[in-house]
Amino acid sequence: MTTLRFSDFANVVFFTGAGMSAESGVPTYRGRGGIWKEYDYETYACQTAFDRDPRRVWEFHNYRRGLVAGCEPNAGHRLIAQLERERPGVVVVTQNIDGLHQRAGSRNVFELHGSLWRTRCERCGKREASDDAPLADVHCPCGAFKRPDIVWFGDMLSSDLLRAASEAMSHADLLVAIGTSASVYPAAELPRLAQRAGAVLVEINLEDTPLSDLYDHRLRGTASAILAELCDAATPAPGSAPH
Ligand code: APR
Repeated sequence: MTTLRFSDFANVVFFTGAGMSAESGVPTYRGRGGIWKEYDYETYACQTAFDRDPRRVWEFHNYRRGLVAGCEPNAGHRLIAQLERERPGVVVVTQNIDGLHQRAGSRNVFELHGSLWRTRCERCGKREASDDAPLADVHCPCGAFKRPDIVWFGDMLSSDLLRAASEAMSHADLLVAIGTSASVYPAAELPRLAQRAGAVLVEINLEDTPLSDLYDHRLRGTASAILAELCDAATPAPGSAPH
């Protein structure tokens, strides 16, 4: 295990993907048990599918709401939230839409791909948040279908959000990517900004990814186990002499 200590870094960015929530029971998108194997995005997760059959798209998203509502943040989410409580300068940039970082207590969270728990209306612009699972009424008061406020395939990311996340990356001195296959752009590329800024880059994953070469430390194992090891390394053992 590396001798990295979170306390040696002022600005820490956690860049998380579906593997972060896998231990909570939320399926990942790719790999074993990946959701895109069972549900093709062209039918369930793009604007064209929604325009064609909003009820079917909502069935899928209500299924996901129900699934995530039955999951709890895991020890990894809680360790990240604890680090944020203990010190300023901790930011989460996540591709996840499940809200588990926030449920664990993280507050500085940029949700690059939106949230399963928000809706917006493309007709009147109304935005709402609800943790109902399933969402019973998928109609906006204006009569149109509400749309999950999620970045689907083919959608643009919010430019404000992307700017804020890029800013955080550019000020990081430690970047920890956790549980992402680094296969969806532009998110996948954000750690390059931290690299350019001179940050130390750490990748936590079960396996190598197409961008693993970018990282100074490639730590293989589950998100919660590796984070626990990193946090333990930061805590001096009882009775150990200060140095
Ligand atoms: N701990 C650490 N890593 C894990 C764990 C775990 N317990 N379980 C799985 N992983 C790793 C896998 O090895 C894989 O590299 O998590 C990664 C999950 O990859 P994806 O399913 O592709 O998830 P993600 O990278 O977040 O996907 C990006 O694609 O379709 C979309 O919009 C969706 O935000 C998502 C984007």
